[in-house]
Amino acid sequence: MADEPRRRYDNFLHQNLNILHGAVLRNGQVTEQELLDAFRQYQDDGEIRLPLQVPANRERQDQRVRLIFGSAIFLFVLIATPLISIGLEYAISIRCLVPNNYLVWEATRPVSNCDFCRNVRGPLIFGNLTQEEFKPYAYSSSPMILKNAISHWPATKLLNYTFLRDLYVKIPGALDSVQIDCQFLHFKSNFLTLRDVFAMSQSRAEFRKGEAPWYVGWSNCHPQVLTELRKLYPRPHFLPEDAEMPNTDFIFLGYEQGAVMHLDYIPRLMWQGQVKGNKSWILAPTPECDSQCRSFSFYVEPGDAVLVDTRLWYHGTYVPKGEFSLTIQSEYG
Ligand SMILES: [Fe+2]
Repeated sequence: MADEPRRRYDNFLHQNLNILHGAVLRNGQVTEQELLDAFRQYQDDGEIRLPLQVPANRERQDQRVRLIFGSAIFLFVLIATPLISIGLEYAISIRCLVPNNYLVWEATRPVSNCDFCRNVRGPLIFGNLTQEEFKPYAYSSSPMILKNAISHWPATKLLNYTFLRDLYVKIPGALDSVQIDCQFLHFKSNFLTLRDVFAMSQSRAEFRKGEAPWYVGWSNCHPQVLTELRKLYPRPHFLPEDAEMPNTDFIFLGYEQGAVMHLDYIPRLMWQGQVKGNKSWILAPTPECDSQCRSFSFYVEPGDAVLVDTRLWYHGTYVPKGEFSLTIQSEYG
């Protein structure tokens, strides 16, 4: 090519390369440094490698990472599914301690006007009142203890872990009824069913040295069991004659431990007979009454009856260290 046309061609080429260069830099995908590196690379080995191109080995590496990550997720699902299933079964079995709809109940319960707890500093403590004497207090929300009100019950002498175990084992279907029709509460113990409770070793049942404590409760809704047990404890004599009682009672027994703070979502007032051992109660007002009311605790002894409106008072219980407690609980109203 002659010199002049060659010079014009070079100028034309330079101008267009500059325009291209500027356009590439402006779109932000390539930096000036990357263009410079690409040019140096071209000088070194005679071909341009654009830095934005993904090398084949890098792609293979990404595929490996994706494969490992996918396998890890698959393994996690494989291992976690049975564990989640066991966890859910366990949660369902403790439906009473933390009922499925507990949070819904708590969120939708009516707000207290605090009349039930204002000026209450502890339980009213009475002797063994007659029905007539108890009448004025019968439907009060004040916590009450009736000392020695149930000490004449045959249950205080005859009812214990072994009696209950023999009764439930003897009556066909009684053990399964607790799981199917009644309520079983294992609290902090590791028993899932009443069958587990009655299968524990004698050593643990008696909480001998080195054994773990246990505390459970259940409703004795099996008709035959209820008939047998009610031979040991009559309807509390102090309750009003017209007061209704449900066709099932609760039994709570065990060592140490107890129930965490909660409200009961039951239709009536609660009474409890302290058949064996001592038990401490902690009562607290609902949170909206914290500024007007106080929490307090008290304990009951064998033969005492305790009455608490457990629908209004948050309540928790615990059995003194190393001691055994057995109680019968029901409702009236
Ligand atoms: Fe309760």
